[in-house]
Amino acid sequence: MAKEIKVLVTGAAGQIGYSLVFPIANGDVFGKDQPVHVVLLDIPQMIEAVKGVVLELQDCALPSLKNITATSDVQEAFTDIDYAILVGAMPRRQGMERKDLLKANAKIFEQQGKALDTYSKKTVKVLVVGNPANTNCLIAATCAPSIPKKNFTCLTRLDHNRAKAQIAGRLGITANCVENAIIWGNHSSTQYPDVSHASVKIGDKPKQSVVEAVKDDAWLNGDFITTVQKRGAAIIEARKLSSAMSAAKAICDHIRDWHFGTPAGQWTSMGIYSTGKFYEIAENLIYSMPVYIDDQGCYKVEDGLSISDASRARMDATANELLAERNDAFTFLQGQSS
Ligand code: NAI
Repeated sequence: MAKEIKVLVTGAAGQIGYSLVFPIANGDVFGKDQPVHVVLLDIPQMIEAVKGVVLELQDCALPSLKNITATSDVQEAFTDIDYAILVGAMPRRQGMERKDLLKANAKIFEQQGKALDTYSKKTVKVLVVGNPANTNCLIAATCAPSIPKKNFTCLTRLDHNRAKAQIAGRLGITANCVENAIIWGNHSSTQYPDVSHASVKIGDKPKQSVVEAVKDDAWLNGDFITTVQKRGAAIIEARKLSSAMSAAKAICDHIRDWHFGTPAGQWTSMGIYSTGKFYEIAENLIYSMPVYIDDQGCYKVEDGLSISDASRARMDATANELLAERNDAFTFLQGQSS
């Protein structure tokens, strides 16, 4: 039998945590034959609720679940993990400015970055979900200098899936027929959902570009983009809660592809550490880009795409927002330590 994979989920008592632990323990991410040790971390006030999640997980009698740990102890949670799915974060409360949210979360991700550095395997793969996800991810990566920066990613797969679903809905097909959408930049309303390189397969017809299939540039450059950018807010408005089922599904897609690789000829979108070498995006940002992943879990940026002037402007706008967030977060962290 394969050696067990130890997977940490933080914020395990929250809404996403509740939807996420089932597919992981059910073998939907790492395969049915792969035993997993699920580690659930939440703050001390929530530990009773986490224990309830443990009871339910046990009662599911799942094929891949070998072990469960529920804890509010950071050292216990981060020790020897293979995957860290960092969902837990301070929610934005009424009257809170974006900067206040950034500050509250900067502290959490500083602590968790240090814990990764000290207690986790150097090969640990990290996915940051808690918002602001890109900047939280950069903080964690910076505070974990002994772990390669390429091991730090943030979730933009939900946005990627939303883009595919919008195109599919427009064409009356299912979302799996849409390939190679891209989310550029920040997981925020400045993100740039780009389908100018995407393709679709409709019935028996040969594959064609999304632009040819949709035949409506005004929609593709207008409502399509804003719908994807504002989808999170639309869900909050309707549910009075942020997306959880679709976020958990996207997390599973992200980790499954990072573990097994992307399908042949298809890239996906991930927030990755920008080295400054791709698409003129500044170094030292976590920026979402198109990546291919091989069956060893190594990813490579698709770096040969032509970028129109309109795309360039949108890519730069979201990069500028990330630069400002980085500045605010690190100014705060430096002020705190001096
Ligand atoms: P939630 O509020 O239901 O749960 C968050 C959980 O995190 C709570 O149980 C809380 O106690 C816990 N937590 C807070 N601080 C913690 C810490 N220091 N260590 C461990 N646990 C901690 O929130 P929900 O709906 O599960 O969302 C979680 C995060 O994911 C939010 O920041 C949300 O904005 C973000 N999100 C990101 C998406 C993306 O695509 N990147 C999509 C949807 C949500």
